[in-house]
Amino acid sequence: MTQQSSRVVLITGCSSGFGLHIAARLSCGAFHVFASMRDLSKQNDLLGEVALRQGKIELVALDVTDPSSIREAILKIRSMYGRLDILINNAGYGVGGFFEDLAPEEIQAQMGTNFFGVQNVIREALPLMREQRKGLIINISSISGLYALPCFGAYNASKWALEGFSESLFYELLPFGIRVCLVEPGAYKTKIFYENRKYAKGFFNQSSPYYAISQAFQKRTNDHMKTDEKDPEDVAILIENVINDERPAFRNIPDARSRWLYHMKRFLPFRLFSWILMKIVYAGIPMPHAKRSDDKDLL
Ligand SMILES: NC(=O)c1ccc[n+]([C@@H]2O[C@H](COP(=O)([O-])OP(=O)(O)OC[C@H]3O[C@@H](n4cnc5c(N)ncnc54)[C@H](OP(=O)(O)O)[C@@H]3O)[C@@H](O)[C@H]2O)c1
Repeated sequence: MTQQSSRVVLITGCSSGFGLHIAARLSCGAFHVFASMRDLSKQNDLLGEVALRQGKIELVALDVTDPSSIREAILKIRSMYGRLDILINNAGYGVGGFFEDLAPEEIQAQMGTNFFGVQNVIREALPLMREQRKGLIINISSISGLYALPCFGAYNASKWALEGFSESLFYELLPFGIRVCLVEPGAYKTKIFYENRKYAKGFFNQSSPYYAISQAFQKRTNDHMKTDEKDPEDVAILIENVINDERPAFRNIPDARSRWLYHMKRFLPFRLFSWILMKIVYAGIPMPHAKRSDDKDLL
């Protein structure tokens, strides 16, 4: 087995969604895959998928908000292989809700998993990667880390923070031979929109000034997800390509719609971009004040 064919990979959040697909896909490639999840009782879906593909993985318990569980996982990898070549920070969730409907602790928890959770894992993994003078860190951000939407502020903030941190880390670690990349998917049908979906405390409070809009957004998201055909396996394929690329791009957007959105956000003046977005996002939704439907007053 060559050095290239025995790369050691750690992935967070493999009980479902992208993490499951990434782990299952890499499990039948030339990798030693450490598929981690915070609750090992949820391993059956992953094991079923790995068996179907005739792959091989090592399961580890890891909660990104619990540094001791991360330390143990890294220690296990160090004792088994003495190296960690690729770290994929995938674990995360989204809390929906307008800022005033969100409790501070809900925003902190969102940051705690999606931003500080990633930092927790990287902090524990870096000593091993630095010793090797080689490594790849892939942070799963989101297209929501590149443009914002109402009702997603906490999630946007967590992914925007991850974007800025990853960009800084890219410059910090390249001199040590460690590359940092971002993967920024659009909306894919995973448990993040179903079982794992979280709502702000005030989301269903009928006296909230945002209630009517929140409910309309929720319905629209549900309708959209029913018809969305994108396959989460495409994200795993993109990640496999990033891993196999000697010099992968820093930003990697798997779906065409998100690539288009990213370029619109980059190249259009914000006044025009936000005007288009307001038209799309609030189309057909009752506004709390008559003036709010008058774009000239708003933008
Ligand atoms: N699906 C999309 O449309 C989309 C788009 C852009 C970006 N993303 C990002 O992709 C990543 C994966 O999401 P997904 O769509 O695959 O959703 P998912 O099916 O809900 O998977 C999320 C995974 O993260 C795990 N997780 C949550 N909190 C954790 C913690 N504290 N410690 C360890 N694991 C934890 C979950 O574990 P449990 O089963 O224990 O909850 C689950 O395994 C997330 O970072 C998400 O923000 C998703």
